Amino acid sequence: MRLKGKLVVITAAASGMGRAGCEIFAREGAKIAAVDIDQANLDDTVAAVKKAGGDIKGFKADLLKVDESKRVIADTSAWLGGIDILWAHAGCPGPAGIENMDLDAYNKTMDLNVRVSVVQASEVVQHMRKRGGGSIIFTASMGGLVGSMLMPVYSAAKFAVVGLTKSLAQTLAPDKIRVNALCPGLTDTPMLPQFMSRGGSVDEATKRYLVNVPLQRVGKSEEMAYGALFLASDEASYVTGVALPVDGGYTAK
Ligand SMILES: NC(=O)c1ccc[n+]([C@@H]2O[C@H](COP(=O)([O-])OP(=O)(O)OC[C@H]3O[C@@H](n4cnc5c(N)ncnc54)[C@H](O)[C@@H]3O)[C@@H](O)[C@H]2O)c1
Repeated sequence: MRLKGKLVVITAAASGMGRAGCEIFAREGAKIAAVDIDQANLDDTVAAVKKAGGDIKGFKADLLKVDESKRVIADTSAWLGGIDILWAHAGCPGPAGIENMDLDAYNKTMDLNVRVSVVQASEVVQHMRKRGGGSIIFTASMGGLVGSMLMPVYSAAKFAVVGLTKSLAQTLAPDKIRVNALCPGLTDTPMLPQFMSRGGSVDEATKRYLVNVPLQRVGKSEEMAYGALFLASDEASYVTGVALPVDGGYTAK
Protein backbone atom coordinates (compact mmCIF):
# COMPACT_ATOMS: atom_id res chain seq x y z
CA MET A 1 0.00 0.00 0.00
CA ARG A 2 1.42 3.34 -1.08
CA LEU A 3 -0.36 5.58 1.47
CA LYS A 4 -0.69 3.24 4.44
CA GLY A 5 -1.61 5.21 7.56
CA LYS A 6 -1.43 8.60 5.81
CA LEU A 7 -3.87 11.30 6.90
CA VAL A 8 -5.25 12.95 3.77
CA VAL A 9 -7.50 15.89 2.91
CA ILE A 10 -8.93 16.04 -0.62
CA THR A 11 -11.00 19.03 -1.73
CA ALA A 12 -13.54 19.05 -4.57
CA ALA A 13 -13.85 15.41 -3.58
CA ALA A 14 -17.48 14.74 -4.53
CA SER A 15 -17.02 14.44 -8.29
CA GLY A 16 -14.60 13.74 -11.12
CA MET A 17 -10.91 13.53 -10.28
CA GLY A 18 -11.39 14.31 -6.57
CA ARG A 19 -13.78 11.40 -6.21
CA ALA A 20 -11.39 9.10 -8.10
CA GLY A 21 -8.69 10.33 -5.72
CA CYS A 22 -10.79 9.34 -2.70
CA GLU A 23 -11.32 5.85 -4.12
CA ILE A 24 -7.69 5.29 -5.14
CA PHE A 25 -6.06 6.89 -2.08
CA ALA A 26 -8.36 4.87 0.22
CA ARG A 27 -7.39 1.65 -1.58
CA GLU A 28 -3.77 2.59 -0.93
CA GLY A 29 -4.41 2.73 2.83
CA ALA A 30 -5.04 6.45 3.47
CA LYS A 31 -7.56 7.85 5.96
CA ILE A 32 -9.43 10.50 4.03
CA ALA A 33 -11.30 13.70 4.86
CA ALA A 34 -13.29 14.51 1.73
CA VAL A 35 -14.31 18.17 1.32
CA ASP A 36 -16.93 19.55 -1.06
CA ILE A 37 -19.82 22.02 -1.25
CA ASP A 38 -22.17 19.41 -2.76
CA GLN A 39 -23.57 17.36 0.13
CA ALA A 40 -25.47 14.82 -2.01
CA ASN A 41 -22.51 13.90 -4.23
CA LEU A 42 -20.21 13.96 -1.21
CA ASP A 43 -22.47 11.44 0.53
CA ASP A 44 -22.33 9.21 -2.59
CA THR A 45 -18.54 9.39 -2.69
CA VAL A 46 -18.22 8.58 1.01
CA ALA A 47 -20.67 5.66 0.70
CA ALA A 48 -18.80 4.21 -2.32
CA VAL A 49 -15.42 4.42 -0.58
CA LYS A 50 -16.77 2.93 2.65
CA LYS A 51 -18.43 0.10 0.72
CA ALA A 52 -15.04 -0.76 -0.73
CA GLY A 53 -13.60 -0.87 2.81
CA GLY A 54 -12.08 2.63 2.92
CA ASP A 55 -11.75 4.97 5.89
CA ILE A 56 -13.37 8.29 4.92
CA LYS A 57 -15.57 11.10 6.23
CA GLY A 58 -17.24 13.92 4.29
CA PHE A 59 -16.93 17.59 5.29
CA LYS A 60 -19.26 20.06 3.62
CA ALA A 61 -17.69 23.47 2.98
CA ASP A 62 -17.97 26.33 0.52
CA LEU A 63 -14.30 27.02 -0.05
CA LEU A 64 -15.09 30.41 -1.58
CA LYS A 65 -16.02 31.53 1.94
CA VAL A 66 -12.69 32.22 3.65
CA ASP A 67 -13.95 31.32 7.12
CA GLU A 68 -15.28 27.94 5.89
CA SER A 69 -12.10 27.31 3.92
CA LYS A 70 -10.04 27.87 7.07
CA ARG A 71 -12.38 26.04 9.41
CA VAL A 72 -12.49 22.90 7.28
CA ILE A 73 -8.72 22.46 7.59
CA ALA A 74 -9.03 22.63 11.40
CA ASP A 75 -12.05 20.29 11.41
CA THR A 76 -10.49 17.71 9.09
CA SER A 77 -7.24 17.75 11.05
CA ALA A 78 -9.16 17.19 14.30
CA TRP A 79 -10.98 14.17 12.83
CA LEU A 80 -7.94 12.71 11.07
CA GLY A 81 -5.58 13.29 14.01
CA GLY A 82 -3.31 15.55 11.89
CA ILE A 83 -2.68 16.07 8.18
CA ASP A 84 0.07 14.47 6.08
CA ILE A 85 -1.28 15.18 2.61
CA LEU A 86 -3.49 17.92 1.15
CA TRP A 87 -4.74 17.53 -2.41
CA ALA A 88 -6.16 21.02 -2.96
CA HIS A 89 -8.13 20.17 -6.05
CA ALA A 90 -10.90 22.80 -6.07
CA GLY A 91 -11.03 25.14 -9.05
CA CYS A 92 -13.27 26.30 -11.86
CA PRO A 93 -13.13 27.38 -15.49
CA GLY A 94 -12.99 31.08 -16.29
CA PRO A 95 -14.81 33.47 -18.60
CA ALA A 96 -14.25 33.21 -22.36
CA GLY A 97 -12.07 35.79 -24.10
CA ILE A 98 -10.98 39.20 -22.81
CA GLU A 99 -13.39 41.78 -24.23
CA ASN A 100 -16.38 42.89 -22.12
CA MET A 101 -14.88 41.03 -19.18
CA ASP A 102 -17.44 39.93 -16.58
CA LEU A 103 -15.62 40.95 -13.40
CA ASP A 104 -17.74 38.70 -11.19
CA ALA A 105 -16.62 35.73 -13.30
CA TYR A 106 -13.03 37.04 -13.13
CA ASN A 107 -13.22 37.27 -9.32
CA LYS A 108 -14.67 33.77 -8.93
CA THR A 109 -11.98 32.30 -11.21
CA MET A 110 -9.18 33.95 -9.25
CA ASP A 111 -10.75 33.25 -5.86
CA LEU A 112 -11.52 29.54 -6.31
CA ASN A 113 -8.31 28.68 -8.17
CA VAL A 114 -5.81 30.96 -6.44
CA ARG A 115 -7.11 32.42 -3.18
CA VAL A 116 -8.45 29.07 -1.96
CA SER A 117 -5.05 27.46 -2.68
CA VAL A 118 -3.29 30.22 -0.73
CA VAL A 119 -5.70 30.09 2.23
CA GLN A 120 -5.63 26.30 2.50
CA ALA A 121 -1.84 26.12 2.26
CA SER A 122 -1.58 28.85 4.86
CA GLU A 123 -3.82 26.88 7.24
CA VAL A 124 -2.40 23.42 6.65
CA VAL A 125 1.29 24.14 7.33
CA GLN A 126 0.91 24.12 11.13
CA HIS A 127 -0.76 20.69 10.99
CA MET A 128 1.90 19.19 8.71
CA ARG A 129 4.70 20.67 10.80
CA LYS A 130 3.34 18.82 13.84
CA ARG A 131 3.54 15.58 11.80
CA GLY A 132 7.17 16.29 10.89
CA GLY A 133 6.43 17.10 7.23
CA GLY A 134 3.89 16.54 4.51
CA SER A 135 2.88 16.83 0.88
CA ILE A 136 0.71 19.51 -0.70
CA ILE A 137 -0.64 18.95 -4.21
CA PHE A 138 -2.39 21.80 -5.96
CA THR A 139 -4.47 21.09 -9.05
CA ALA A 140 -3.31 23.52 -11.71
CA SER A 141 -3.88 22.63 -15.39
CA MET A 142 -2.11 22.40 -18.71
CA GLY A 143 -3.50 25.96 -18.87
CA GLY A 144 -0.99 26.75 -16.09
CA LEU A 145 1.88 25.71 -18.39
CA VAL A 146 0.83 27.15 -21.75
CA GLY A 147 -1.55 29.99 -22.56
CA SER A 148 -5.21 29.39 -23.36
CA MET A 149 -6.67 31.14 -26.38
CA LEU A 150 -10.23 30.51 -25.12
CA MET A 151 -9.85 31.25 -21.42
CA PRO A 152 -7.05 33.73 -20.65
CA VAL A 153 -8.21 34.43 -17.10
CA TYR A 154 -8.32 30.71 -16.24
CA SER A 155 -4.83 30.33 -17.64
CA ALA A 156 -3.63 33.33 -15.62
CA ALA A 157 -5.11 31.78 -12.48
CA LYS A 158 -3.48 28.39 -13.08
CA PHE A 159 -0.11 30.02 -13.89
CA ALA A 160 -0.48 31.66 -10.46
CA VAL A 161 -1.09 28.23 -8.91
CA VAL A 162 2.11 26.93 -10.55
CA GLY A 163 4.00 30.01 -9.28
CA LEU A 164 2.63 29.38 -5.79
CA THR A 165 3.74 25.75 -6.05
CA LYS A 166 7.32 26.57 -7.03
CA SER A 167 7.55 29.29 -4.38
CA LEU A 168 6.13 27.23 -1.52
CA ALA A 169 8.35 24.30 -2.46
CA GLN A 170 11.23 26.56 -1.41
CA THR A 171 9.48 28.24 1.53
CA LEU A 172 8.31 24.98 3.10
CA ALA A 173 11.28 22.70 2.35
CA PRO A 174 12.84 23.37 5.79
CA ASP A 175 9.63 21.95 7.31
CA LYS A 176 9.95 18.85 5.09
CA ILE A 177 6.74 19.81 3.32
CA ARG A 178 6.85 19.02 -0.40
CA VAL A 179 4.69 21.14 -2.71
CA ASN A 180 3.80 20.08 -6.25
CA ALA A 181 1.14 20.80 -8.85
CA LEU A 182 -0.86 18.39 -10.97
CA CYS A 183 -1.52 19.79 -14.46
CA PRO A 184 -4.35 17.83 -16.06
CA GLY A 185 -5.21 18.06 -19.70
CA LEU A 186 -8.85 17.95 -20.72
CA THR A 187 -10.45 15.24 -18.57
CA ASP A 188 -13.77 13.46 -18.81
CA THR A 189 -15.53 14.90 -15.75
CA PRO A 190 -18.69 17.01 -15.33
CA MET A 191 -16.43 20.05 -15.78
CA LEU A 192 -15.40 19.13 -19.34
CA PRO A 193 -18.43 20.70 -21.08
CA GLN A 194 -17.90 23.90 -19.08
CA PHE A 195 -14.44 24.23 -20.66
CA MET A 196 -15.41 23.18 -24.14
CA SER A 197 -18.62 25.24 -24.38
CA ARG A 198 -16.34 28.32 -24.45
CA GLY A 199 -15.37 27.19 -27.94
CA GLY A 200 -18.90 26.73 -29.36
CA SER A 201 -20.27 23.16 -29.62
CA VAL A 202 -18.67 20.88 -27.02
CA ASP A 203 -18.14 18.03 -29.53
CA GLU A 204 -16.61 20.28 -32.17
CA ALA A 205 -14.37 22.08 -29.67
CA THR A 206 -13.23 18.73 -28.23
CA LYS A 207 -12.39 17.44 -31.73
CA ARG A 208 -10.36 20.60 -32.44
CA TYR A 209 -8.55 20.21 -29.13
CA LEU A 210 -7.68 16.55 -29.78
CA VAL A 211 -5.78 17.49 -32.95
CA ASN A 212 -3.08 18.78 -30.57
CA VAL A 213 -3.08 15.78 -28.22
CA PRO A 214 -0.52 13.16 -29.24
CA LEU A 215 -2.42 10.41 -27.39
CA GLN A 216 -5.59 11.44 -29.27
CA ARG A 217 -8.13 11.27 -26.45
CA VAL A 218 -9.24 13.11 -23.33
CA GLY A 219 -7.98 11.94 -19.94
CA LYS A 220 -9.82 9.87 -17.34
CA SER A 221 -10.30 10.93 -13.71
CA GLU A 222 -8.35 7.90 -12.48
CA GLU A 223 -5.36 8.84 -14.63
CA MET A 224 -5.25 12.24 -12.89
CA ALA A 225 -5.71 10.67 -9.46
CA TYR A 226 -2.74 8.34 -10.13
CA GLY A 227 -0.61 11.41 -10.91
CA ALA A 228 -1.68 12.94 -7.60
CA LEU A 229 -1.04 9.61 -5.86
CA PHE A 230 2.56 9.60 -7.03
CA LEU A 231 3.12 13.19 -5.85
CA ALA A 232 1.44 12.38 -2.50
CA SER A 233 3.36 9.18 -1.83
CA ASP A 234 6.80 8.64 -0.35
CA GLU A 235 7.87 7.44 -3.82
CA ALA A 236 8.08 11.18 -4.60
CA SER A 237 10.15 11.94 -1.49
CA TYR A 238 12.73 13.88 -3.58
CA VAL A 239 10.16 15.64 -5.77
CA THR A 240 9.14 19.18 -4.89
CA GLY A 241 8.32 22.31 -6.92
CA VAL A 242 7.19 20.27 -9.91
CA ALA A 243 4.22 21.04 -12.18
CA LEU A 244 3.42 17.58 -13.53
CA PRO A 245 1.51 17.50 -16.83
CA VAL A 246 -0.90 14.58 -17.18
CA ASP A 247 -2.21 15.70 -20.54
CA GLY A 248 -1.68 13.04 -23.20
CA GLY A 249 1.30 15.01 -24.48
CA TYR A 250 -0.52 18.31 -25.17
CA THR A 251 2.21 20.46 -23.61
CA ALA A 252 4.99 18.42 -25.26
CA LYS A 253 4.35 20.26 -28.52
N1 LIG B 1 -11.92 18.48 -16.11
C1 LIG B 1 -10.94 19.02 -16.81
O1 LIG B 1 -10.86 18.91 -18.05
C2 LIG B 1 -9.84 19.78 -16.09
C3 LIG B 1 -8.64 20.05 -16.78
C4 LIG B 1 -7.62 20.72 -16.13
C5 LIG B 1 -7.77 21.10 -14.80
N2 LIG B 1 -8.93 20.86 -14.16
C6 LIG B 1 -9.04 21.28 -12.76
O2 LIG B 1 -9.52 20.19 -11.98
C7 LIG B 1 -10.34 20.70 -10.91
C8 LIG B 1 -11.79 20.24 -11.06
O3 LIG B 1 -11.82 18.94 -11.26
P1 LIG B 1 -12.92 18.03 -11.97
O4 LIG B 1 -12.75 18.10 -13.42
O5 LIG B 1 -12.73 16.77 -11.22
O6 LIG B 1 -14.31 18.76 -11.68
P2 LIG B 1 -15.76 18.25 -11.28
O7 LIG B 1 -16.70 19.22 -11.90
O8 LIG B 1 -15.95 16.79 -11.53
O9 LIG B 1 -15.75 18.47 -9.69
C9 LIG B 1 -15.61 19.73 -9.13
C10 LIG B 1 -16.07 19.64 -7.67
O10 LIG B 1 -15.76 20.90 -7.06
C11 LIG B 1 -16.82 21.18 -6.15
N3 LIG B 1 -16.85 22.61 -5.86
C12 LIG B 1 -17.17 23.61 -6.72
N4 LIG B 1 -17.15 24.79 -6.07
C13 LIG B 1 -16.81 24.53 -4.78
C14 LIG B 1 -16.65 25.33 -3.63
N5 LIG B 1 -16.85 26.65 -3.67
N6 LIG B 1 -16.31 24.74 -2.46
C15 LIG B 1 -16.13 23.40 -2.39
N7 LIG B 1 -16.26 22.58 -3.46
C16 LIG B 1 -16.61 23.14 -4.64
C17 LIG B 1 -18.07 20.71 -6.91
O11 LIG B 1 -19.17 20.56 -6.04
C18 LIG B 1 -17.59 19.41 -7.54
O12 LIG B 1 -17.85 18.30 -6.71
C19 LIG B 1 -10.27 22.21 -11.01
O13 LIG B 1 -9.20 22.69 -10.24
C20 LIG B 1 -10.02 22.40 -12.50
O14 LIG B 1 -9.51 23.67 -12.78
C21 LIG B 1 -9.97 20.21 -14.76
